[in-house]
Amino acid sequence: MLQINRKVAMKIACVVGARPNFMKAAPILRSLEKNPTTEIVLIHTGQHYDEKLSGVFFEELGIRAPDISLEVGSGSHAVQTAAVMTGVEEILTQAADRNVPFDCLIVVGDVNSTMAATVAATKVGVKVAHVEAGLRSGDRSMPEEINRLITDSVADLLLCSEPSGVENLLKEGHSKESVHLVGNVMIDTLFHQLSAAREKDTLQRLGIGGGEYGVVTLHRPSNVDRPETLGALVEVLTRVAQRLTLVFPVHPRTKAKLTEFGLMAALNNCDGIRISEPLGYLDFLCLTSQAKVIVTDSGGLQEESTALGVPCLTMRSNTERPVTVETGTSTLIGSSAELLKSKLNEVLDGTYKQGVCPELWDGRASERIAEILISC
Ligand code: UD1
Repeated sequence: MLQINRKVAMKIACVVGARPNFMKAAPILRSLEKNPTTEIVLIHTGQHYDEKLSGVFFEELGIRAPDISLEVGSGSHAVQTAAVMTGVEEILTQAADRNVPFDCLIVVGDVNSTMAATVAATKVGVKVAHVEAGLRSGDRSMPEEINRLITDSVADLLLCSEPSGVENLLKEGHSKESVHLVGNVMIDTLFHQLSAAREKDTLQRLGIGGGEYGVVTLHRPSNVDRPETLGALVEVLTRVAQRLTLVFPVHPRTKAKLTEFGLMAALNNCDGIRISEPLGYLDFLCLTSQAKVIVTDSGGLQEESTALGVPCLTMRSNTERPVTVETGTSTLIGSSAELLKSKLNEVLDGTYKQGVCPELWDGRASERIAEILISC
């Protein structure tokens, strides 16, 4: 049962659900909890529930145990979304019935839990602050794009990580007062954890040296759900691995598809490819921070590689994070094996032109968010 402190000036719920949420929420919680009159209730929806996709992140990022766990687990998008909506609605209405209502709910990112919690809160009259608002890929076949559009259309406070977010929201008709450029909270966590990550023995355990390898991650449905697309990617990776060792921590969705399509053996039998389970935050940061190149379809990794100064070859034809392309820290490869090979060659030959980190990706975004929330 939650202990309610009746002297608090502001009562905030913070919702997390899936792996990319945890590193975004950690610095926000830290900044808000510095204010003694703010009560934070941490809700974990349980969209990700594995130790490797969830538990280890709480431990390594120093996030306290959730106050409430909804344990929604896996399911179709509708099933997952409905379970989060039902759970969040119940928490918020019960608090209001007990006369200790929530003033605000914070959501981060673009996962199903983000969108579901936003819709439930808005409908029961609790204000929503969306961190990482306004990002748009323009690609409605991505579930995350639908989540972004729905979340932003009803959220009250829209906190953006890059200028394109502000522009998109103003174009969509949001008022200037509701939109704030605060910078990138993911980078707050990265800077906070980098020295601890560099002390890990991750590279020794993998038997590789700094700067001698590439890191691969793939999990987007558009890349992994069809045998022909995933097969072509596996083929390219095995060819690239002849020139550069590739470390590939495999997401559960990707592992299931590789197994289903009979592609696992090609990766396992390739000398230059090191397959691993999904890594914890510190091991993964240890790995990416010393990589020669990153090949990925992850949104977050496009940003982390930007702050780390490691070239990112993005296996997508669009990105909701255009600043990474404009400043030249990420190159969109689509699914072109030829382009991937030629960009990798540039990286290996030292002719790849690496960009610079955008403004406000300075490790202090969560402080700016806390100031805005507390002054609202
Ligand atoms: C979700 C997010 C995506 C994010 C990604 C990072 C949405 C729409 N997608 O995609 O934006 O980049 O997380 O990981 O919210 N599974 C496990 N263990 C778990 C969780 C899931 O094995 O702890 C399995 C599920 O059974 C399912 C697959 O992984 O088969 C996909 O999980 P799901 O959360 O539905 O979507 P992701 O692809 O992980």
